[in-house]
Amino acid sequence: MKKPSFEISDFGMTKYGQKARKFTLRGKGGVVLEVSDYGGKVIRLFTPDKNGKLKDVVVGFDDPSGWDGGDPYWGCIIGRYGNRIAHGKFKIGSKTYRLPALNNAPGGIGCNLHGGARGWDAYVWGAEPFIEGDNVGVVFTHFSPDGDEGFPGKVEVKVVYTLTADNVWRVEYEACPDKTTPINMTQHVYFNFKGEAGGTIEDHILKIPAKTYLPTDSGQIPTGEIRSVVGTPFDFRRGMRIGEKINAADRDLEIGKGYDHCWVLDKGEMARGKRPRALIHAATLSCPLNGRYVEVSTSEPCIQVYTANWASYDQTAKGGEHLSFRCGCALETQHAPDSPNKPKWPTTFVKAGEKYRSVTEFRFGAC
Ligand code: BGC
Repeated sequence: MKKPSFEISDFGMTKYGQKARKFTLRGKGGVVLEVSDYGGKVIRLFTPDKNGKLKDVVVGFDDPSGWDGGDPYWGCIIGRYGNRIAHGKFKIGSKTYRLPALNNAPGGIGCNLHGGARGWDAYVWGAEPFIEGDNVGVVFTHFSPDGDEGFPGKVEVKVVYTLTADNVWRVEYEACPDKTTPINMTQHVYFNFKGEAGGTIEDHILKIPAKTYLPTDSGQIPTGEIRSVVGTPFDFRRGMRIGEKINAADRDLEIGKGYDHCWVLDKGEMARGKRPRALIHAATLSCPLNGRYVEVSTSEPCIQVYTANWASYDQTAKGGEHLSFRCGCALETQHAPDSPNKPKWPTTFVKAGEKYRSVTEFRFGAC
């Protein structure tokens, strides 16, 4: 096993005129992670197959311009509020806050998505790479002012990416506001274990141990029901090919144009308004062609799985590869969408001086 190491290089200018850098982290176990201080974006992620052969398994771009369109947030850190807030509106006490409601599913009424017009993904963050024993990583820091995208309170944010010797990429989030505000952070990396030129992820096997998921209205806002997966195309408990039922005649799948839904990892805790106490297994995604897989564990109560259904993604990615419909699968650990308007669910409101914390681990392997 090699020693962990890192390199720093230029990544180019963002459309906001900020200079971005790239950090190449080489983990002791073999995984190599290329990330930018531009919203913590994952550019490349190489994981070994069972013979130790490395392959880049994420969708990313050679320079910041690949992200100029904003959506669909390829590989970014998402904040202040990941996922949707209905009508871009919520209340704290008697005061109503209004956020840009720019996201409009057909038939939807507009909602706030992933932090608004310029979310935390679209800033260059402070970044300090580190080596600590067998681990290598980067500490990212960001400051979000009071009123940022309509949200109350300024927030000091820290996200730590760590690569461990046993090929875990750990993402730790911390945020501290000076006024009560909703916080729901996630990582929006899209996996494709064939490499992105390999096309769709419909042949990947997905396993989600959840017994329930959240059906939505036509604007992709959870209706409030926590529905059993039994007998639905959302039952991934035993593992299922993503393409197996993705085009089934099912109202939820029709609304999402495929999987774009939130699974509840522990219904009991969710119904009690609590989040899980320790890291729990959230999902495993694997590729039968080469055996590579990722196992996701999290301290979050839910996982949103998004199979890149919303556009043709007519874009050229790194290496000149052309992206296509369903070319990646995002496994976004988080609290439930629209939690600020769902008082019975685990709260996303963080009070002044309180610390928001969240941890997700992506464990890579091959079989
Ligand atoms: C959402 C999708 C959205 C995508 C890109 C996902 O987290 O669930 O509806 O299209 O992000 O913005």
